[in-house]
Amino acid sequence: MGEALNGVKRTIMCGDLRESHIGNKVTVMGWVQRKRNLGGLIFIDLRDREGILQVVFGEAINNEAFIKADTVKSEYCIAVTGDIVKRESINENMPTGMVELKGENIKILSESETPPIYIKENLDASEAIRLKYRYLDLRRPDMQNIFKIRHRTAKAIRDFLDKEEFLEMETPMLTKSTPEGARDYLVPSRNYPGMFYALPQSPQLFKQLLMVSGYDKYFQIVKCFRDEDLRANRQPEFTQVDLEMSFVEQDDVISLNERLIKHVFKEVIDLDIKLPIKRMPFAEAMSKYGSDKPDLRFGMEIKNLTEAVKGCEFKVFNDALANGGSVRGLTVEGGASMGRKDIDRLGEFVKTYKAKGLAWIQYKEEGIKSPIAKFLKEEEINAIIEKAEAKVGDLILIVADKNSVVLQSLGALRLELAKKLDLIKDKNEFNFVWITEFALLEYNEEEGRYSAAHHPFTMPMDEDIEYLDSDPGRVRAKAYDLVLNGEELGGGSIRIHDTKLQEKMFNVLGFTSESAWERFGFLLESFKYGPPPHGGLAFGLDRMVMFLAGTDNIKDVIAFPKNQNAFCPLTEAPNVADEKQLNELGIEIQKTEE
Ligand code: AMO
Ligand code: AMP
Repeated sequence: MGEALNGVKRTIMCGDLRESHIGNKVTVMGWVQRKRNLGGLIFIDLRDREGILQVVFGEAINNEAFIKADTVKSEYCIAVTGDIVKRESINENMPTGMVELKGENIKILSESETPPIYIKENLDASEAIRLKYRYLDLRRPDMQNIFKIRHRTAKAIRDFLDKEEFLEMETPMLTKSTPEGARDYLVPSRNYPGMFYALPQSPQLFKQLLMVSGYDKYFQIVKCFRDEDLRANRQPEFTQVDLEMSFVEQDDVISLNERLIKHVFKEVIDLDIKLPIKRMPFAEAMSKYGSDKPDLRFGMEIKNLTEAVKGCEFKVFNDALANGGSVRGLTVEGGASMGRKDIDRLGEFVKTYKAKGLAWIQYKEEGIKSPIAKFLKEEEINAIIEKAEAKVGDLILIVADKNSVVLQSLGALRLELAKKLDLIKDKNEFNFVWITEFALLEYNEEEGRYSAAHHPFTMPMDEDIEYLDSDPGRVRAKAYDLVLNGEELGGGSIRIHDTKLQEKMFNVLGFTSESAWERFGFLLESFKYGPPPHGGLAFGLDRMVMFLAGTDNIKDVIAFPKNQNAFCPLTEAPNVADEKQLNELGIEIQKTEE
């Protein structure tokens, strides 16, 4: 059994001890990282949140403590009291390496079994084990460092927004479906059997209501829930830094948010971000990078080769153009020497993005090598080379198809090549860009109708409103995303605050007036009572912390994350519910055959 503290107080953290503490009597508490018994002396590395301290016990220092210290093992939780002395063999690699603690008294607060994972940095254990024993995984110094960064990030955000006179306000978790468009997590209601709350995908509607209520500048660091396919940067519950402002236009929201980001990156990692952050219209991002979140740390822009191949004999190119598509390519500098197998692998890669093939031209010293050379005239090949801005020694990779497929596959290929060919030279670069002038609507081919690209409350750009009926596809929105190194850090928009325009939006989106009122009636109703012009944005806090902590796995920055199948190996949630609970909720489980 562990000993009680019995009035013993910790006086300092292990990791905080320095040369200036020599001569002080201290009490530290923590976990045994390691113990070495060198005969007359026992050395214990004692670990707490702030670091590791060497503690030495000796028969000559205090024999009773020495005997007790010999019984401890890894991860025992202990308290030690004694004097801080200068260490005989200084350890330059440890912040506390100048000193050690002479253990005069030791309390064994609790014992530990041999832990299933090592408590050390750069642990190479399976994710399943790490998540099952997450409380041990979180003892590791590199994890503790991440959560200190997360804390400092949230604090920097609060400090900045407080200075800017934002109010932090909470919004409900048990609510109605929100408009972000992912699948909802539903919570059955006991009071209303057969009815469900939805967990919020974001506080979107409530923050707009708060603007109607006159709160002017709102923010919240808030959990959001989306039942979607998980990836390295997606979790089913994640955290947004959500904010909304009244009486503002797009530039006001962008300016406030880039100052926020500058403040946070300075406070947390001492990075100086130059403002203003550059901006790029959505259409340019798509045509140059095949993505609405372009990674601008390297070039290799997509080149439009359509003009060069117009009227050529190659059926693949011709068909694509005849169907309103395009022919575009990437020029790989120095790629002419790439082997056939490697190029074939790139061909397989673009097929996962629905491209039907990948044509290529190697522009070599001795001439052109290409499987499509036989279909093209010399001047056509020369025109391709010119449009592709290829030099001797380069490789041109080409996709012909409808535009969406061409851009998506080449955009993905561009990123793949950057990885393969190590094109991102400065690994410490933080390349920010605002993507603006998003398309307001996306055409959904399966359903044969338009849907909101952001959400249905996004304001169209003034000069495009006239096309809402005649040519909805060309209408741009007052929407903006902040992209960092090819990841979407946050996004937002100016909202519609005019009931007539809102009704029109619903019309274009194919909502009947009834269905719009059924889903969002409370917001529409509120707009009858003097809604101010307003707009806002939400950052993914987890993603921000990933950048600040330098990890590419979102699970590293969430204390208790779900695995790739939205399962928690620690608590084993989701799990079955009691018969009694189900009865109260009026729920009967359909037996599915395995
Ligand atoms: P949006 O849907 O773009 O906007 O979300 C804002 C930001 O949240 C992060 N994010 C996620 N992070 C981790 N896991 C997820 N599953 C996940 N989904 C989104 C992204 C994203 O940029 N209400 C609007 C904001 C607004 O208009 O003000 C909204 O939710 O970093
Ligand atoms: P084929 O004559 O069909 O064998 O095609 C000749 C070359 O064109 C091959 O290298 C194919 O990979 C390539 N190719 C086929 N379809 C496309 C396409 N849609 N876009 C670009 N290249 C293609």
